Amino acid sequence: MIKFIATEDTLPLRSSVLRNGEPTTECYFQADDLPTTFHLGYHSPVDEIVSILTCQLESMEPYTGIGYRLRGMATHPEWQGKGIGTLLLKEVIDHLANEMKADYLWCNARRVAHDFYQNLGFEFLSEEFEIPGIGLHRVMYLDLYNKNS
Ligand SMILES: CC(C)(COP(=O)(O)OP(=O)(O)OC[C@H]1O[C@@H](n2cnc3c(N)ncnc32)[C@H](O)[C@@H]1OP(=O)(O)O)[C@@H](O)C(=O)NCCC(=O)NCCS
Repeated sequence: MIKFIATEDTLPLRSSVLRNGEPTTECYFQADDLPTTFHLGYHSPVDEIVSILTCQLESMEPYTGIGYRLRGMATHPEWQGKGIGTLLLKEVIDHLANEMKADYLWCNARRVAHDFYQNLGFEFLSEEFEIPGIGLHRVMYLDLYNKNS
């Protein structure tokens, strides 16, 4: 089941899946608690959060309109490859397009996740670049305007 969750609920998976077990106190994003930021979690049948994502209002040059940035997308290793990340991302795309009337969604995507985002319609906007301590990324972009209903 997909639910809105609190920043604190994202920290264990951010730490274990995205940050090599770094202390959760180091796993906050600057915009986590802004009123324009939200977090979604997929809950397993025993109510464990097994997949997470965060969306923050942040535009990207040269695009105009309402832009959101996707961050901290992670699925627990035992739950990866079962379609949960796709479900979560589809839910957020629908929410952003139809409730928030957003125009686009973008992210800095790790190489291992490029296919995952491409399968959902994201396009590459940059070549690879290094984010220190995390690795190689490319900027990816999804137009939401044409998904608005
Ligand atoms: C990328 C990620 C969030 C996808 O979540 P998920 O729940 O595994 O996603 P789904 O099962 O819906 O989709 C799986 C697709 O993601 C891709 N993928 C990326 N890493 C994968 C992994 N470790 N295991 C399985 N699929 C992976 C594949 O393209 C796969 O497509 P396929 O099923 O057609 O082969 C998840 O694999 C993950 O947490 N990876 C490690 C952290 C990470 O890289 N996060 C993205 C940061 S930009």
